[in-house]
Amino acid sequence: MNEVVTALITHLHAFVEEVRPTEEEWMAGLGFLIETGRMCTPERDEFVLLSDMLGLTSAVDDVNHEGPEGMTPSSVQGPFHSPAPARELGDWISHGPERDRAVPAVVHGRVTDCDGAPLAGAKVELWQASDAGLYDSQDEAQEPGNLRGLFTADAGGRYWFRTIRPSSYPVPTDGTAGRLLHAIGRHPMRPAHLHYRVTAPGHRPLTTHVFLAGDPYLGSDAAFAVKEELIREARPRTGGWGMDGPYEEIEFDVRLVPLRPPLGVPPSVRQP
Ligand code: BEZ
Ligand code: FE
Repeated sequence: MNEVVTALITHLHAFVEEVRPTEEEWMAGLGFLIETGRMCTPERDEFVLLSDMLGLTSAVDDVNHEGPEGMTPSSVQGPFHSPAPARELGDWISHGPERDRAVPAVVHGRVTDCDGAPLAGAKVELWQASDAGLYDSQDEAQEPGNLRGLFTADAGGRYWFRTIRPSSYPVPTDGTAGRLLHAIGRHPMRPAHLHYRVTAPGHRPLTTHVFLAGDPYLGSDAAFAVKEELIREARPRTGGWGMDGPYEEIEFDVRLVPLRPPLGVPPSVRQP
C-alpha cells in the first residue's frame, strides 16, 4: 500500500506542478469526480466508463496480460458482458429484427496454444452490438441473449457461428465521461467489433475483441482498445457455410497461453 500510495502522491504532485490549476479549477475537477460518483448505480458505473475513456482500463489490461510471442493479445471487457446462452457450432446468434436489416456474417477460426496445437473443447463466448450499435441490454427490440453465444470448439479447436456484421457505435455520452470527451474534442465512437472470452483447461483465459479492417474509427477508438493483431478483413462471399445469399466471412484464430510451461523448460523462461 505504501509503495502504491507514494507513487500516486508523487504523480499527483507532479501533475499539479505541471498544470498549475487555480483553486477554482481544482474545485471544478473535484466536483466532476463527485458528480461521476453520484451517477453510479448497480446498472451503470460511470467511473468505469471514465477509466475506459481515459485509456486507463486498456493500460491496466496491457500490464496484466503480457505473454509470449504468438499469443492473441487481450483487450478490455467493456460494460456489456453478461453470460451468453450455450449454442451449437454453426448456430445463428442473431435472432432479433437486426437479422432482416444487417449484412449477414460467418465468423470462424481455431483455438490453439501458442505453438498452433488445437485446444479441443475450448469455450468461446461472444457478444456484440446490433447494426444499430445496441447490445441486448440497451434495446427493447432484442431478447436477452441476442447477439451472444457460448460455443464449444470441436476436436480440431475449430469454432464457427452465423451472425450479422457488427457496426461502430458510440459509448454512452449522457454522463460525465461523455461531457469530458466533448470538452476535449474526442468523439465517442468505438470501431465495429466482436467481443470474445475464450477459455481452455490449463490455459490463461483470454478476453479480447476482433475489429473489422477499414473501419473509420480504428485509429481513434474511444476506449483505446484496438491492437493491430486483432484487426481482420470481413470478406464478401456467396455460398458455403450454410448461407443462402451474400454474406461476409470473418476469420479469427485465437492462441492461448499455457498456464505452466511444458516439462524441461528452464525456470528462467517460465511464464508467471
Ligand atoms: C464495449 O465495447 O462494449 C465498450 C468498451 C468500453 C467502454 C464502453 C463500451
Ligand atoms: Fe462493445
